[in-house]
Order: sequence, then structure tokens, then C-alpha cells
Amino acid sequence: MIDTIQACDLVIFGAKGDLAQRKLLPALYKLEEYKKIHPDTRIIASGRADWTRKEYIKIAKTAIKKFLTQEINENIWNKFSARLYFLNVDIFKELCFIELKKILNQTKSIIIYYCAVPPSVFSTIFKRLGQINLNLFPARIIIEKPLGVCLKTCKAINDQISKYFLESQIFRIDHYLGKESILNLISLRFANSLFFNSWNNKIIDHVQITISEQVGIENRWNYFDKMGQTKDMVQNHLLQILTIIAMDPPKNISSTSIQNEKIKILRALKTINSENINIKTVRGQYTEGNIQGKKVSSYLEEKGANVKSQTETFVCIKVDLKNDQWFGVPFYLRTGKRLAEKYSEIVIVFKKMPINLFKNNNYNLSQNKLIIRLDPNENIQIDFLKKISGLNEIYQLKNEKIQSNLFTKTNSKKIDAYERLLLAAMKGDQSCFVCREETEEAWKWIDPIIEAWKNSKENTLKLYAAGTWGPQNADDIIMKDGRYWHKFH
Ligand SMILES: NC(=O)c1ccc[n+]([C@@H]2O[C@H](COP(=O)([O-])OP(=O)(O)OC[C@H]3O[C@@H](n4cnc5c(N)ncnc54)[C@H](OP(=O)(O)O)[C@@H]3O)[C@@H](O)[C@H]2O)c1
Repeated sequence: MIDTIQACDLVIFGAKGDLAQRKLLPALYKLEEYKKIHPDTRIIASGRADWTRKEYIKIAKTAIKKFLTQEINENIWNKFSARLYFLNVDIFKELCFIELKKILNQTKSIIIYYCAVPPSVFSTIFKRLGQINLNLFPARIIIEKPLGVCLKTCKAINDQISKYFLESQIFRIDHYLGKESILNLISLRFANSLFFNSWNNKIIDHVQITISEQVGIENRWNYFDKMGQTKDMVQNHLLQILTIIAMDPPKNISSTSIQNEKIKILRALKTINSENINIKTVRGQYTEGNIQGKKVSSYLEEKGANVKSQTETFVCIKVDLKNDQWFGVPFYLRTGKRLAEKYSEIVIVFKKMPINLFKNNNYNLSQNKLIIRLDPNENIQIDFLKKISGLNEIYQLKNEKIQSNLFTKTNSKKIDAYERLLLAAMKGDQSCFVCREETEEAWKWIDPIIEAWKNSKENTLKLYAAGTWGPQNADDIIMKDGRYWHKFH
């Protein structure tokens, strides 16, 4: 693994936007606090605003104060703010890039471009940088999801970027890959024989992956309505998690070996199309309801809504894999907005015990579960049965849990995914990033699902009240297999 912190000129396109202010600035400040940034690294924020450097520094401080969950330390701030610069850049103006080139330190620093701008302007950035040789190795470029809205548009972005940058220079972010719990999944699987030897269809019964949100559209109706929950969440986050659970052991822990194994899993996903869409998927849209005791409006009554929208805010998919290791082990995915709780977790459910020595006591032996909680608190839990201690009947059993918090008191620094990913980009470590083929293979699997919904003669959109767990059909999809969703508690 690469572990060198290099001097960088980090150029942020879109410095005024939500991502830059809410995520990138607080994450960079935290990296300063952890002393992870090279002393000569500079942060060159850019945008169409006409700010002076002094004005930008003030704006950055306000953003960090607003979005960081701790007080700003003035000593750290002084060090951090000395790195901040602002340059007026309108991506459509060639001259702005010539000005940018003048201030970059190409000889001493690695130049990293962070495209915190709408994907519609990505190609102009790539081209402008290419035209004046600002694209040349060792420069790096970071882009964010969504990478297109279908295979064709994703390929177009990948083609545009690859005209100017090598794959080794491109860092595609899926911020779930920067989460402690997701990285721990790799350690858990490949550093423990207990799990390594149990990770197959002889021992595992099925897998559940849930990303449940309580928020609605948050004034992003226009963006979201073109996407829907499947393209916005399943194509990237849920499929990325699935690949990490299902992949074979990589040759080593290099980014290429891990990505190669993940690609094999994406290729092994069984197609869902018009023939099986109704038995494999459920899509829903929220109506009005209650979230934490407060009345909330329906999707169609959100600000800016088109009242005829058929876009899904909830999706549940039963995924099967066509490889030997996972034959007969379904992966149930579900994600939605305005659900009962905000939480994300992976549940690995092990097969039932083949024998029951306790049946005389009427025990129905519950299945063991390995639960990896991603949100709200990142932890790992194992559910098992144990004897009740004491002088009771000798073999009285009860359900027990062992839990390991990933951020304990002794290691209390809760690392945000963006902190980890920005640091990895500064080190040139691509292991928590997504490669071209992964993005395209994921769309290859998603596109027929979207197509099948569009062509279905039945209305596939089921309504659910805000504050519930989605349409009843999402329970049916798992219950008809004799299984049930793990309850959040
Ligand atoms: N926000 C998130 O949490 C999040 C999460 C995942 C992915 N993303 C992705 O990250 C990117 C940025 O998202 P965002 O939420 O930050 O969007 P945003 O709030 O709309 O900000 C976009 C920024 O891009 C700038 N911009 C647009 N056209 C420009 C041009 N021609 N020249 C210079 N600057 C231009 C805007 O500048 P003006 O202020 O001058 O208009 C604005 O500052 C998008 O690709 C989004 O899909 C965001």
C-alpha cells in the first residue's frame, strides 16, 4: 500500500457548491488536524464567484463552522487557512485555465483536480486541461457519481476523460468505499479464517443490504426525478457493497486486484428484464406520512414536483449470481427515502443448524447473523444462541449479541469517508475508488431493469406512506422465500 503524503496543489472546481462546502472543506480541515497534509500542499478553490482570497478564507471558515460537528481550533485553522487560495474560473472560459496554469506549481507538487461541479461540465474541464497540458501524468483527477444515467452516457464520460487522462490518474468516488465499515468488511473476510472459510453457499443462507433514508428530496427534485432511487443508489453504493461481499479473494490488496474481482461479480449478476421484473423487483414512491412525529408531504407535493412523476423513491431487488460460490444465495437489496428510520446495514444470514439437539425444550434454533452496520454508528455484530447462565434447566437458550464498535473510546476519531478518500487521492492510492469497467458493468445490469419497468404493462409503482418501511410488496419479496428482513434496533 502507498503511504507517502506528497505535496499537492488541490484544485477544487465548484468551490461555492454544496459538496465543496459541506463535505470537502470540513474533511480537509480534519486532515490538517490529523497532520496528514504535506506542509507545502495548497488548496486552490475555484468558481465563477468574484471572491478575493481574503473573502474566500472567510467563506471557508463559515462553511467549516456550519458543517463540522466540533469547534474550530484557531491554531489548526491558521495553518489550514494559509493553504487556501481562490481563483475565478468559469469552466467555459479558456483564459481562466491559462490563469490557473500560471499559479500551479507543476514541478514541486502533484496537481489534483476535484470536479465538484455538475457532470454536464466535466467534458469541458477535461478538454481545457488537456489543451494546455495540465492533464499530464502525474496529475490526478477526481470525479463524483453519478457517472451518467445509463450505460451509453457513462461510456461517454469515460471516453471523454480517457482522451486526456490515463486510468491510473482517474479517481472515481463512491463515498461508501471510504467508510470504515466497508473497509473492515475486507479485513473481516480475508484476515479471519472463521469468516474466510464460511463465506460460501454451504454456510451462508442469504444476504440483506439496506440503505434506509428518512430524508425526502431536499430541494433536489429536478436532479432526483431524472434519476430515481435505482440509478442514484443501487447502481453505485449498493452494487459496490454487494461486490465486496461476494468477490473472490483478490491476489493481493492492490486496487487493481480488488477491482478485478469486483468486476467478475458484476458480470455474474443474473439479468433482470421483462421476463422476471415483477418477481425480482419492487419499486415504490412515498405518499404523505409522519417522520419522527412530524407530518411530511408526498413526493408529488415536494417543491418543484411534476405531479405525474412515476419516478421511484424506493426500490427492493432480489439479486442472484450465476457463479458456483453463490449459487442459491440471494442478495436482497432495498433502499428508499422517507422510510421509518435512517440506517444502513449489511446482514449475512447463516444457514439453519442441520440438527437440533434442543428440540425437546421446544427450541427453534434461530439462524446466526453477522451484521455490519454502516449508519448511524459503524459497528459489527454477531447474533448467536447461548445457554442462560445459572442453575436453571441445564440447556435453556437465549439470543445473544457480540458487538464491536468501529470507533471506540480509545480510537474515538470518527473518520468521515471524504477524509479518507481525499487523503488516498493525495497519496495516489486508488484502492477505495471505482475503475471504468466497474461503472460500465454496473450500468449494463441496471439498464435492462429500468427498461423492463418502462415497458411493463402493469403499473409497477407501488405507493407507501412516508415513515413506513416501503411498500408491503418489499416484505413479500423476501417472505415468499421463507425469510424476513432483519429488524432495525
Ligand atoms: N452534494 C453532495 O453531497 C454530492 C454527493 C455526491 C455527488 N455529488 C456530485 O458532486 C458534484 C457537485 O455537486 P454539488 O451538490 O456540490 O452541486 P452544486 O451545489 O450545484 O454545486 C455545483 C458547483 O459547480 C459550479 N459550476 C457550475 N457550472 C460552472 C461553470 N461553468 N464554471 C465554474 N463553476 C461552475 C457552480 O458554480 P456557481 O455557484 O457559480 O453556480 C457550483 O458552485 C455533482 O457532480 C454531484 O452530482 C454531490
